[in-house]
Amino acid sequence: MSFFAQSVDWDFPVPIHYGPGRITELSSICDYNGIRRPLIVTDRGSRDLPFLSLARKILDTAGFAVNVFTDISPNPIDKEIMMGKSVFEEGKHDAVIAIGGGSGMDGGKAISLVSNNNYKLWDFDNDKTEVKDISIFPSLICIPTTSGTGAETESTAMVTNRDLGMKLCVWHPNQKPVAALLDPELTLDLPKNLTAWTGIDALVHAIESYCINSLHSVADGMALEALNLIGNNLELVIKNPTDIQSRGAMLIGSCLAGISFKKGLGLVHAISHMVGAIYNTQHGLTNAILLPAVLRFNKVEISHKIETLNYVTFSKPGNFDDFYNNICNLLDNLEILNGLEGIGVKKEKVLELAKKASKDSAAKTNPRLASVAELENLIIESLSRAR
Ligand SMILES: [Fe+2]
Repeated sequence: MSFFAQSVDWDFPVPIHYGPGRITELSSICDYNGIRRPLIVTDRGSRDLPFLSLARKILDTAGFAVNVFTDISPNPIDKEIMMGKSVFEEGKHDAVIAIGGGSGMDGGKAISLVSNNNYKLWDFDNDKTEVKDISIFPSLICIPTTSGTGAETESTAMVTNRDLGMKLCVWHPNQKPVAALLDPELTLDLPKNLTAWTGIDALVHAIESYCINSLHSVADGMALEALNLIGNNLELVIKNPTDIQSRGAMLIGSCLAGISFKKGLGLVHAISHMVGAIYNTQHGLTNAILLPAVLRFNKVEISHKIETLNYVTFSKPGNFDDFYNNICNLLDNLEILNGLEGIGVKKEKVLELAKKASKDSAAKTNPRLASVAELENLIIESLSRAR
């Protein structure tokens, strides 16, 4: 069947409230959604950051019965999610406010899935197909404080299964955030390295989703505008971290890239999920190191999209080599490590990583399917001199 002779269904996410300073509207967003006893969830690394005390103060002042749960690792672990469920249920909370970067928001979203029901976390595994009877979940509000994960408009969360040593995706089609609140002022204090790593994560979301050869024009449109915003602003925001203009563009770009990967992701994420699960590495940095090898692997299958990718991201025409070199120059300018060895990955784990990555849902949507041996090669190529 020709490409545009297909029938497809696309859905669109949730209300998104964007603007500098709009964190102050958190209490009115809770009011609007009938929330009285929210549990704020973030990761341990954000426990002392100003955005957490600010969110709490706004809700305390407005008379909400608010509590905070911060026992979430950089790569959230299953037992932490179940601890959060206990806190939620014992506190008789009625909503989760998931605030932070990818780990804080994923932790909050996963807690919202398992709270007030008797299912186990892994019943929400993306790969399971049994129908679940849950129609009502706790209300969920997502507030990103990095411009990277783009996880604010969906209930999908990546959680590490300690028994399997794998990161798995949990979600439910009936759980969606009631609102995403995008305030670029919350990203102004993000350090240079995290700004770069999370920014590349967003860039990779848009590239991987756009390169999938399936019909999803809504996602493709989101991915291209994301690349335009990220390509034009990532280096600017590194040079001038307090520029609200660039911070705002990056936050919107990250959100759009996050929506775009409803279409799927690719081998960068398939491998990165498993590296993160085994070595607890920073997700965006891991992606940044892996991106060049995966682009080389996909070269033929994405050739018809390269001109658009290069023009939109780097504002100039070019072929695959131009795009590849532009990406590598960007990674160099952002001082990205040039090998997985630099973040602790050992050669003896390559086969295990490859086997696990081959089972990741993102491996199944990559434009070129990879065997375990090909995945091994990609990881070996990325150990040192990755670009
Ligand atoms: Fe990602």
